[in-house]
Amino acid sequence: MTDTSASTTLYERLGAGDGIAAVVDSLYRHIIGDETLAPFFEGTDMVEQKRHMALFLAVATGGPNGYRGRDIDAAHAGRGITDADFDRVIGHAATALAEAGVDDETIQTVAGALLPLRDQVVADASAA
Ligand code: HEM
Repeated sequence: MTDTSASTTLYERLGAGDGIAAVVDSLYRHIIGDETLAPFFEGTDMVEQKRHMALFLAVATGGPNGYRGRDIDAAHAGRGITDADFDRVIGHAATALAEAGVDDETIQTVAGALLPLRDQVVADASAA
């Protein structure tokens, strides 16, 4: 976790599969503890959800490509997710990373990798 050389992938800086699994666990603890966000996951199998999120984050951070879930657009279509909901999830992700001991620069890099997904996650205002 201390090697921040340019050749180290973000995936490795996060502690690879085990590190990401721990962050994802903490992320969903924060999400389910947030009364604004919890209702979105009422019918969700959280074990599968965590597994898919961890595999998705592995690919997104330069790790192995084991993600077999839906694409991000399809997974979130029709759920009515707002910009504010998206910002709350990113906030919880930053908290979960900080709690795992990830440094600020790396947290910013992870956030920078997730922010471009906003348009695929947030409901199209014209369709709402
Ligand atoms: C960068 C932000 C996000 C990423 C990377 C992300 C990633 C994912 C992934 C990988 C899945 C699994 C897809 C599958 O199983 O095929 C998923 C499903 C889901 N996400 Fe997200 N998500 C993000 C933001 C959000 C936000 C902001 C919300 C709502 C507030 C949300 C709510 C959901 C729900 C409800 C599901 C489906 C659960 C189910 O199948 O029951 N996501 N997301």
